[in-house]
Amino acid sequence: MNTSLIILAAGKGTRMNSELPKVLHPIAGDPMLVHAIAAGATLDPAHTVVVAGHGAEAVTKAAHAFDETAIVVVQHEQLGTAHAVNQAKDALADFDGTAIVLYGDTPFVSPETLERMVQAAQEVDVVVLGFEAADPGRYGRLILEGKSLERIIEFKDANEAERAITLCNSGVIACDSALLFDLISEVDNNNASGEYYLTDIIGLARARGLRATAVTCDEAETLGVNSRAQLAEAEAAFQARARAILLEDGVTLQAPETVYLARDTVIGRDTLIEPNVVFGPGVTVESGVHIRAFSHLEGCHVSRGSVVGPYARLRPGAELEENTRVGNFVEIKNAVVAEGAKVNHLSYIGDAFVGARANIGAGTITCNYDGVMKHHTHIGANAFIGSNTMLVAPVHIGNGAMTASGSVITSDVEPDALALSRAPQVEKPGMARKLMDILKAKKAKQQRGS
Ligand code: UD1
Ligand code: CA
Repeated sequence: MNTSLIILAAGKGTRMNSELPKVLHPIAGDPMLVHAIAAGATLDPAHTVVVAGHGAEAVTKAAHAFDETAIVVVQHEQLGTAHAVNQAKDALADFDGTAIVLYGDTPFVSPETLERMVQAAQEVDVVVLGFEAADPGRYGRLILEGKSLERIIEFKDANEAERAITLCNSGVIACDSALLFDLISEVDNNNASGEYYLTDIIGLARARGLRATAVTCDEAETLGVNSRAQLAEAEAAFQARARAILLEDGVTLQAPETVYLARDTVIGRDTLIEPNVVFGPGVTVESGVHIRAFSHLEGCHVSRGSVVGPYARLRPGAELEENTRVGNFVEIKNAVVAEGAKVNHLSYIGDAFVGARANIGAGTITCNYDGVMKHHTHIGANAFIGSNTMLVAPVHIGNGAMTASGSVITSDVEPDALALSRAPQVEKPGMARKLMDILKAKKAKQQRGS
């Protein structure tokens, strides 16, 4: 089925009390707008049109960071949902197929539900996503006659009988694109809010003898975010769901409620996650990995058999091959740690390649930044980097080479060579005792004097 998305994201979100446009507030590491676009993207839409308004520049950037082909149109004044959808008219002028309207502040509508709407849109002219609300509050109400959706009445405009209806409008609509804009052209703003209501297209369609229906979903999917409290609720709901899915998929979470996942976190079967682990965006962890407590991962990949943490930090571009060890207080950024290599304690490995089975001693630092540019460090397979080695990049350590503890390595080291770069040790017999005696005498003199 040929589909296109229209995602409404122009609102300011006054109740967020924020400089940031509402749809850019993050849930599980991504702006809520991205959750909506990603759900719609599963339909493989021909076009994704984002209707921006408040903070349009930032909204555009966020949309393009996820989908560089997204079309962003700007609604300069927020005159209502129909007016907002109408901003996508030119962008979809040549599109022949089903338009799906989503809200950027309603991040959890599932791909399965959208698929059901697309299916329903093959049978009838307009499909609305409704839900049974525990507390219908100020939602628009769906007026059904049998299976036919007759109209939607906004809360403000509803009479008491209509307000008693609990089947509510989520805002998601599927409709043939050309028909959608045609119906919108008839929408006026003679209502309690003085806005152009998208919801009016149902009554207009029925007046033309067209068919409309409601598809329903669980209320959890239609959760909208209007305040920081609802943002926190949405985050909690996402996390609870994502943890449950991982457990179902065969991942062990020793303390699920303390593990934080991102929208796109992927974790393989039989991986064990200890308490208090945080996953930022862009993490994939293969099967049979052990992530120990208090580790923080983002933009990285961990291959099977590896052990990470406790207290490890994997930053964007960290690529851990099979059976690696990354231990406590180790930070890895933009670096490959090849198969079987170990970085067990207190190290920074950035812009680097660590060869297979290399052993990186405690306190090793890749000095990758000269204040202006970043430089690369290459450590060959089976190399042994002594504790507290400073590797001043760009530098290349050959396969099987060693560096002596405490060395500052500024030039390349040949394979199998030992590089030693530290002040030679000097030993003065009896000097420790003498020095102590001098110091003690000095202290005694001071105490007599005071
Ligand atoms: C809307 C629906 C209501 C439904 C509810 C679900 C209408 C008239 N009402 O009401 O039936 O129950 O959503 O949450 O459609 N937006 C724009 N430009 C505008 C107006 C809105 O981009 O000019 C965006 C908002 O940023 C928001 C979404 O559209 O993401 C919904 O707008 P909002 O004002 O929150 O609509 P509601 O009054 O909640
Ligand atoms: Ca709303």
